[in-house]
Amino acid sequence: MKDKTPLLIALLFLGVQLFGVSCALLDVARAGLTPRAGGQMREFRLTASAMTYEFVRGQPTTAWAYNNQVPGPELRVREGDLVRVIFTNNLPEPTTIHWHGVNVPTSIDGVPDISQPPVPPGGTFTYEFIATPAGTRWYHAHFAEHTQLQLGLYAPLIIEPRDVGTRYDRDNTITFGEWSPDALHPDHNQPNDGMGSMMDGNMMSTPDDPNVKFTVNGKASPAAPPLLVRQGERVRLRFINASAMQKHVIRLEGHTMKITHVDGNPLSPPREVEAIEIGAGERYDVEVTANNPGVWALHCVRPGHTERGLKTIVRYEGAADDSRESADIRNTRGFRVWPDTILTQRQAAGETTRPDKQFQLTLSGGMMMGGMMGGDGANTWTINGKAYPNTDPLIVKQGDRVRVRLFNMSMEDHPMHLHGHSFAVLQYDGRPITPMVRDTLTVRHMEIYDVEFVADNPGTWFFHCHNAEHMEGGLITLVKYR
Ligand code: C2O
Ligand code: CU
Repeated sequence: MKDKTPLLIALLFLGVQLFGVSCALLDVARAGLTPRAGGQMREFRLTASAMTYEFVRGQPTTAWAYNNQVPGPELRVREGDLVRVIFTNNLPEPTTIHWHGVNVPTSIDGVPDISQPPVPPGGTFTYEFIATPAGTRWYHAHFAEHTQLQLGLYAPLIIEPRDVGTRYDRDNTITFGEWSPDALHPDHNQPNDGMGSMMDGNMMSTPDDPNVKFTVNGKASPAAPPLLVRQGERVRLRFINASAMQKHVIRLEGHTMKITHVDGNPLSPPREVEAIEIGAGERYDVEVTANNPGVWALHCVRPGHTERGLKTIVRYEGAADDSRESADIRNTRGFRVWPDTILTQRQAAGETTRPDKQFQLTLSGGMMMGGMMGGDGANTWTINGKAYPNTDPLIVKQGDRVRVRLFNMSMEDHPMHLHGHSFAVLQYDGRPITPMVRDTLTVRHMEIYDVEFVADNPGTWFFHCHNAEHMEGGLITLVKYR
């Protein structure tokens, strides 16, 4: 007598598979999305849940993570693929996923209630979009963003171009994160630690809470995983700043870095620098030639940031274990630092276009303004004098070429991010610059940038500061069209 159980199981399994496939086809038809010519259907499952994790070695704590990893799993797809992400929320609070830098349909853009309802605890949501444009993108929580980012809900999304271009011996993604020991029980209304820390050296930035630790691929130094290289290799590093607030100035000791892409988009011509200032939400792809054997620090040169964790090691195969990083190396004087070096260079002006609509966004607010206005304005940030939801939306028409002047009158940086589109950066302080295409642009104290985008993805879109505290304090406007 033969046991039929294996056969039954096999049939059952087959049935489930067929059922799954037919559901998949139905869903695609419903959303009206098909992969572009040559593209494939790529399906992923992501679950957000709490876990115990050591951002800092020896300090187990609660993290919120996609698929129990910090950063979450790197999704790699090709331009034109149809990406489906079946998402389950096992967190104790609602969440959403935003696909940062991807031209997704507005209905799955992850902005709570503007584009989609938040996914409740225990809920699921299917995200579906065409992978475009190619480049280093990322995804992250867009609900209670300050907390959820700090707890670990961020990850790389790499969209490979259709034609591969330069071949690298290695392609490493390096995601910078922020972790706060009070992330789970935030009191973001606490006054920050004063003006002193805003002015480190010549860089005005966001007040920096010394309790916040910095991570490289989910771990604070010295626990951050080292990068291994071999002499002579051509290495691509993709930097993603997934910090809730802070910018970093990244330096690889002993090497220069050739910036090939900003926010995932090709930079032409590429620029060779010694250090890169990277604001929250921004990305840089760099090419490094492994021509200086040894063990080198890859770290942030802003005061205190290396000590607070923002460092990893680049180790050449066969090199002895003696990391070279000394105080004087941290001095960036005489270095070419992005973007300052670039902004002061002679620039080739891009072709002049005639915008259909023009807007100016004057960014202001913060502690100083609060003080002057006599209130506790510490957490109010404004665009043209108004805080979201009272800001005036940018009303445009499909097909418009939209020019926006960003002027930062406040004391702190504002990494401004536009959802659903990329924009060309055309002018700095009123002078034309060699254009670059971005989706996030750090505008520092008293800087003026002119950017332009084509309204080719109808919907209601967030245009906001990627510093979570500023965003929560009102530094958001909407771009709207049908
Ligand atoms: Cu990366 Cu509105 O966000
Ligand atoms: Cu800001």
